[in-house]
Amino acid sequence: MTIQIRRAVAADGPALGRMGAALMRQHHQFDPARFMLPDGPEAGYEWWLGKEMKSKTAVVLVAEAAGKVIGYAYGRIEDRDWNDLLDKHGGFHDVWVEAGQRGHGAGRLLINELFKTLTDLGATQVVLKTASKNQAAQRLFSNMGWRSTMVEMTRDI
Ligand SMILES: CC(C)(COP(=O)(O)OP(=O)(O)OC[C@H]1O[C@@H](n2cnc3c(N)ncnc32)[C@H](O)[C@@H]1OP(=O)(O)O)[C@@H](O)C(=O)NCCC(=O)NCCS
Repeated sequence: MTIQIRRAVAADGPALGRMGAALMRQHHQFDPARFMLPDGPEAGYEWWLGKEMKSKTAVVLVAEAAGKVIGYAYGRIEDRDWNDLLDKHGGFHDVWVEAGQRGHGAGRLLINELFKTLTDLGATQVVLKTASKNQAAQRLFSNMGWRSTMVEMTRDI
């Protein structure tokens, strides 16, 4: 399977909305009290990534195989954050490969290209968060050079 990674364009909007909503649903299933799932997540995510795509400091990539979009990745340059004690960095926010297309290398290609593009934009480190239940993703990121640095905790009222 030949996989190509390219910058997303406006015509990718519906595919991005569908995949972003699937990523939201996955997180909501991990922990419904922590991960929001608003009405119409497809339209919401299409709006969000469409807006981000236009920013010079954001990167939205898609993976394409046989003329079909099969995955995406999204990150952006984040400014110094005194609350997180994080200097300006690349924020790695999303990666998704369609369920039937996994295990053929699209995930690694997207992750490597997002990392490279964020470093080309000036990031000297790239920081990501994964849901604590998403151990498969944690293993993958750890195998690709990320180390564990922060634990988020939530207490509900
Ligand atoms: C994580 C994800 C993007 C990987 O995509 P992919 O196209 O399957 O990745 P690759 O084919 O490049 O495989 C990368 C590695 O992940 C492993 N892997 C792939 N799918 C896996 C799965 N479901 N469970 C465990 N490991 C998996 C592969 O064995 C491979 O390991 P290796 O390179 O050391 O052999 C994909 O599983 C996915 O979309 N998951 C749901 C969304 C998600 O959890 N995103 C991360 C949090 S934002």
